[in-house]
Amino acid sequence: MHSVECEVKILRDTAALAEEAAKRFVAMVVTARRDKQSHTVALSGGTTPRAFYTRLASAPYDAQVDWSRIDFYFGDERGVPPDHPDSTYRLAHDTLFRPNRIAAGQIHRMRGEMEDLSAAAELYTTELTAVVDEGLPRFDLVLLGLGPDGHTASLFPNNRALHEHVRWVVSIDDAPKPPPRRLTLTVPVLNHAKQVIFLVAGADKARAVREVLRGDAPADDYPAKLIQPGAGRVLWVLDEEAASLL
Ligand code: 6PG
Repeated sequence: MHSVECEVKILRDTAALAEEAAKRFVAMVVTARRDKQSHTVALSGGTTPRAFYTRLASAPYDAQVDWSRIDFYFGDERGVPPDHPDSTYRLAHDTLFRPNRIAAGQIHRMRGEMEDLSAAAELYTTELTAVVDEGLPRFDLVLLGLGPDGHTASLFPNNRALHEHVRWVVSIDDAPKPPPRRLTLTVPVLNHAKQVIFLVAGADKARAVREVLRGDAPADDYPAKLIQPGAGRVLWVLDEEAASLL
């Protein structure tokens, strides 16, 4: 049986998962502050991060973080305007940026509203040059979710984007999870992160969690398997339901 090298933390429910993620986030940022001017984080979308962002923006965590020293990026975005209810930027704005009064200059969003999403991917690629380290963008922290089909960010099963080794950001127009048009960071960029945290909750994720962490199925079928930044760099925070088949 295949087994991915990573830390797995299992907690009771989404609230406990959000609490754990908030604690880890604060610890990471406080440690990094000692030797670094700023900290870069790539956010994810979906329902699970909402609980985490909301927790992070409330006591005691909100006061423990020097928000002015964090630059926020996105791991993926949906092909909608920033004020659309499906926008990942909007989710982060409503739950994290607005409550913590994050300055516009620290927020680096993908332009999901552009008609030409490949042009939006190129624009974001230019934006990412600010965080290049050893030839590739390197985030201090990348937050990811997992879909019931094994997708992560907007890297969906058997999509050609999984095999993109040159570009840092790509557009896709055939995502099985609505909306079909999306932007996503590619595997080499995600794997260059210093730390990746997957937040996964719910019984509908249990089979995908098992396959990604323990199964032998090809990575093309379970794209989250491709996220392997190296030993000690990946943490899976699961609720009991998502972990029920491990
Ligand atoms: C999105 C994300 C996607 C998400 C997973 C898990 O657009 O929603 O890009 O990768 O993180 O699908 O989402 P949930 O937390 O809603 O299950």
